[in-house]
Amino acid sequence: MINIALPKGRLGNKVYNLFEQIGYESSEMKEDNRKLIFENKEKNIRFLLVKPSDVGVYVEKGSADIGVVGRDILLEENPDVYELMDLGFGKCRFSIAGPMDFKENFDRPLVVATKYLNVAKKYFDSINRDVELIKLNGSIEIAPILGLSDVIMDIVETGTTLKENNLKILTNIEDISARFVANKSSYRFKNKKIKEIVNKIKEIL
Ligand code: PRP
Repeated sequence: MINIALPKGRLGNKVYNLFEQIGYESSEMKEDNRKLIFENKEKNIRFLLVKPSDVGVYVEKGSADIGVVGRDILLEENPDVYELMDLGFGKCRFSIAGPMDFKENFDRPLVVATKYLNVAKKYFDSINRDVELIKLNGSIEIAPILGLSDVIMDIVETGTTLKENNLKILTNIEDISARFVANKSSYRFKNKKIKEIVNKIKEIL
């Protein structure tokens, strides 16, 4: 049995479609239900629907043999997994954004709201900028509007959320896309099956 961790939401749906195209479908998946585990007994696979930020944990610990996760999560959580393939979709970028009239005050730490504390710390350390990091779990764009932070560090895909909240990109930090990852011991012991899946996906990408 191969356990596959899929991120719930937009990215997960795209990834599931890929698996369907290579013949690893699960009819239950199409039903309107709240199930989180879907099997295809014939093909000996099981899909696990998890929060995007948890995919790395499931794969590192071996609850899932393989999974798909955004590079943003890999950079933030740094799970001990093999990164086997860049799927080339789920493209976005890490950016610093702030109000249209933002002017940086270098006499004090910059207050940054973000979901990505580790990535933010690493980036601001690399440019020797003192910061106060505020951890939020979503709707980050609200923080500078309310004066909770000076700027945000977040992922930007289309830029619509920034635009509709009167924010602009100040600095682009890094490009991001979806990555196919594998548990290290599964990659050894279920190598044939995992490679077969990777190769089939490569063929249709
Ligand atoms: C993400 C991200 C931005 C938005 C960017 O949020 O945190 O808010 O998408 O996308 P855009 O550039 O296409 O507008 P998500 O939708 O995951 O919701 P969240 O606020 O709960 O994190």
